[in-house]
Amino acid sequence: MLINGASGGVGTFAVQIAKSFGAEVTAVCSTRNVDMARSIGTDHVIDYTQEDFTRNGQRYDLILAVNGYHPILAYRRALSPMGMYVLAGGSMAQIFQGMPLGPLVSRIGSKKMGFMGIATTNQKDLVVIKELLEAGKVAPVIDRCYPLSEVAEALRYLEEGHAKGKVVITVERSADR
Ligand SMILES: NC(=O)c1ccc[n+]([C@@H]2O[C@H](COP(=O)([O-])OP(=O)(O)OC[C@H]3O[C@@H](n4cnc5c(N)ncnc54)[C@H](OP(=O)(O)O)[C@@H]3O)[C@@H](O)[C@H]2O)c1
Repeated sequence: MLINGASGGVGTFAVQIAKSFGAEVTAVCSTRNVDMARSIGTDHVIDYTQEDFTRNGQRYDLILAVNGYHPILAYRRALSPMGMYVLAGGSMAQIFQGMPLGPLVSRIGSKKMGFMGIATTNQKDLVVIKELLEAGKVAPVIDRCYPLSEVAEALRYLEEGHAKGKVVITVERSADR
């Protein structure tokens, strides 16, 4: 499996969950996050500032793209013959490629491509996550913590698109309560 955008809020969880299910995981991130990606258990790390994984000849059974970053046909090239590509988010242009184009491209050959849609939570999945957290197989990677009063600043930082794991808002108890 390859995770493009492995060092952010979605990617750091995706890497650990994939590893807990026994996948061989390749993480794609920038130079400054290579060590962190290794520390959460990835088997291989590709620094996207040095190497374009869609052009290195490797093929993956599953690609999770946290954002588009590459054209949909480039992802298709990096899939194994029965492979699957899932887009989690990105700009409107990137999501537009994943939503209508994904099913169309999937009609050609056996590779499956598409947008995952908006994540929905359910009890069954939450119990799995709870067990992974309790077993220490998944641990949140926390980049920065902001107080509630600085939530706008936190969102500005997140929107830069280079968070190292999660950005947390802390809600402090008022001193007079
Ligand atoms: N479908 C859903 O239900 C759902 C749920 C949650 C989030 N999302 C969406 O998923 C997307 C990712 O969310 P997030 O919280 O993980 O974002 P994030 O924390 O900003 O992480 C994005 C990561 O992408 C990496 N990145 C930036 N440019 C890249 C490039 N050219 N190639 C490869 N990686 C690159 C960054 O790593 P570097 O700093 O190393 O560049 C960063 O760690 C967002 O669009 C969000 O809206 C969707």
